[in-house]
Amino acid sequence: MRLFSKLFSLTLAVSAAALPTSDHVVHERRAGTPSRWEKTARVNGTEKVLVRIGLAQSNLDRAYESDSVSPNYGKFWTSEQVISTFAPSDETVDAVSNWLVNSGVAASRLVHTKNQGWIVFESTAHEAESLLHTKYYHYTDKVAGTKAMAAEEYRVPQTVQKHIDYVKPGVLLPFASKKNRAAKRTRTYKPSRKVAANASSLSTCDELITPACVAALYKIPPTSPNVSASNSLGIFEEGDYYAQEDLDLFFANYTPYIPQGTHPKPAFIDGAEAPVPVEYAGAESDLDMQLAYPIIYPQTITLYQTDDYNYASGEIETDGFFNTFLDAVDGSYCTYCAYGECGDDPNLDPVYPDNSTGGYTGQLMCGVYKPTNVISVSYGGQEADLPAYYQERQCNEFLKLGLQGTSILFASGDDGVAGPPGDDSDNGCLGNGTIFSPAFPNSCPWVTNVGATKLYPNHTIADGESSVVDPIGHPYSIAFSSGGGFSNIYTVPEYQAAAVAEYFQNHNPPYPYYEGNASFGKNGGIYNRLGRGYPDVSANGDNIAEFNAGEFIMEGGTSASTPIFSSVINRIVEQRIAAGKGPLGFLNPVLYRNPHALNDITNGSNPGCGTEGFYTAPGWDPVSGLGTPNFPKLLDVFLALP
Ligand SMILES: *[C@@H]1O[C@H](CO)[C@@H](O)[C@H](O)[C@H]1NC(C)=O
Ligand SMILES: *[C@@H]1O[C@H](CO)[C@@H](O)[C@H](O)[C@H]1NC(C)=O
Ligand SMILES: *[C@@H]1O[C@H](CO)[C@@H](O)[C@H](O)[C@H]1NC(C)=O
Ligand SMILES: *[C@@H]1O[C@H](CO)[C@@H](O)[C@H](O)[C@H]1NC(C)=O
Ligand SMILES: *[C@@H]1O[C@H](CO)[C@@H](O)[C@H](O)[C@H]1NC(C)=O
Ligand SMILES: *[C@@H]1O[C@H](CO)[C@@H](O)[C@H](O)[C@H]1NC(C)=O
Ligand SMILES: *[C@@H]1O[C@H](CO)[C@@H](O)[C@H](O)[C@H]1NC(C)=O
Ligand SMILES: *[C@@H]1O[C@H](CO)[C@@H](O)[C@H](O)[C@H]1NC(C)=O
Repeated sequence: MRLFSKLFSLTLAVSAAALPTSDHVVHERRAGTPSRWEKTARVNGTEKVLVRIGLAQSNLDRAYESDSVSPNYGKFWTSEQVISTFAPSDETVDAVSNWLVNSGVAASRLVHTKNQGWIVFESTAHEAESLLHTKYYHYTDKVAGTKAMAAEEYRVPQTVQKHIDYVKPGVLLPFASKKNRAAKRTRTYKPSRKVAANASSLSTCDELITPACVAALYKIPPTSPNVSASNSLGIFEEGDYYAQEDLDLFFANYTPYIPQGTHPKPAFIDGAEAPVPVEYAGAESDLDMQLAYPIIYPQTITLYQTDDYNYASGEIETDGFFNTFLDAVDGSYCTYCAYGECGDDPNLDPVYPDNSTGGYTGQLMCGVYKPTNVISVSYGGQEADLPAYYQERQCNEFLKLGLQGTSILFASGDDGVAGPPGDDSDNGCLGNGTIFSPAFPNSCPWVTNVGATKLYPNHTIADGESSVVDPIGHPYSIAFSSGGGFSNIYTVPEYQAAAVAEYFQNHNPPYPYYEGNASFGKNGGIYNRLGRGYPDVSANGDNIAEFNAGEFIMEGGTSASTPIFSSVINRIVEQRIAAGKGPLGFLNPVLYRNPHALNDITNGSNPGCGTEGFYTAPGWDPVSGLGTPNFPKLLDVFLALP
């Protein structure tokens, strides 16, 4: 922290009279006390309180609406430009500090944190309560015994409100850990057949999806032998590891043009290692590479294998994931402050050095790898698993990666409108098991989400695909339907607003809804009508041919769809580079303006929570998004951009 002095030279002369109370408006209010917390006593006015005021950042949500159509499209920002653009403006710093000084907090007491995000000062409970028109209470966690100080609501002057993000202590009580680790989005099925009789035939794509089927479905041409050294495809993995033997078996059976021994380039993070002996190979890592290589080869894969084994395997239980990966590809994220959190959350994220047995004893890796142009992630959880502030901070980082030229794609989940069984309730749903559970980090408006499609039996490629609905036992032992729905955290982003409005107007779902999470469950509502909708796009994710742990298996899941769509984008970036253009960054604004470049999916729904879920429809829908890739059309759209 550095002392905050310069800005006060002009403002010190202002009289220290408190602002009239009528100027104050409620900034945050908490409805009730979470069940495991107990309110014990009012905080004594003489107790010391460290007040931290999080400053609003500049224009985060406007970043794309202008940039994606500007002549600078494809010429991306440096990380320094991103940091300075989104730092709180001088106006914000002035407004908040003037309010405090005018209310009697001497300028010399104020400290402005190094990363620009906060104004901090030591206070007493009495002074803080009168500044914020609030009452502070002590709380005790009845399960863990931990203590916290919080208010039920607090107020700030109306003129200053827009400059303030959060105040701490505020209304939040620490998040009670639910012990969920990164979930892989796959469903495995051991078939009786061995391998496809003929790897180049398209007549069995309704039974088994091979690389030839993927190429035919999406009209992906063979790759050129010329690939750019700067366009390796990034793949994220956590707690699941590939085996070289499996890749080699796959290449030998399906893609003999890919040499034996072909393997990803390591970008290992915080003690992670790969590959593993074949008997330990994970179905996710093997699947991701076996889908991506046939589309992008001779381009390479960069493997972001993340976290030491203690954390990645869940031996040390943490709820958070992606933050250590983001630290490694953007060093500024290691200390980035937003929504009341600076850097990784010690209660939710891995902590390094990890001095437990076998742990990674080095320092947390910050900014050690340049992010690739495209990153495929087939992992996720549910919004309800993590506090909103944690997710919002991470979501900003996805936006920043997009601005710097990286396209990041996530699997939309395999449980339809629900979460995985046992998450939040027996059926993976919220509020007594009836309310849809949006997925994390899919609801972040700054990522591209990929849902899963399939070819039904006796259907040809020309018949077209449907969204995946596989009831229990057909063929997977756990039911699988493609994840989709509406966020409880984020409102609908501008690039998506027209598509979502069109869906509600012409294909109104037959369910009651609530409007904004503040009215969660109101009037029997089971989804948030105002939330960001997902997925954005889709690709095949059922009956996929794979070699895993030395055996032929069939795999399903949005885990498969995501490396397919990511590889298509990687190929398009390849062609842009060949044409002297830049990578693509965040894809959604362009995709939503060009729905004709995707194959619209209009059959199927995404069951969950005792309902049939949402239904597909012409245009965007919260089951298949805009649809599956049409490579030639997407190429035209993206090559035409500057
Ligand atoms: C608050 O703390 C002061 C100083 O420790 C003490 O004298 C006073 O009695 C306390 N007030 C209450 C209401 O507990
Ligand atoms: C495999 O199928 C392709 C396309 O249908 C056909 O041209 C080829 O002859 C077949 N190969 C064998 C060995 O049957
Ligand atoms: C590959 O690059 C070389 C050298 O730039 C060029 O001569 C050749 O035509 C390219 N081949 C293809 C298939 O693009
Ligand atoms: C590991 O580190 C923690 C805190 O950094 C320390 O309390 C603990 O004693 C250390 N354990 C070992 C085995 O070194
Ligand atoms: C859950 O059920 C209880 C008891 O029936 C009811 O009071 C509560 O309002 C329900 N909550 C939701 C979110 O539906
Ligand atoms: C597919 O077609 C074959 C031959 O017409 C028929 O025997 C079979 O029952 C069909 N399968 C399904 C799932 O409709
Ligand atoms: C939405 O509201 C419910 C009920 O108040 C709450 O349990 C949940 O944490 C809220 N979700 C978010 C993302 O704020
Ligand atoms: C549409 O989906 C149903 C299952 O919901 C399936 O039986 C049918 O074959 C699908 N139609 C097409 C054209 O794929």
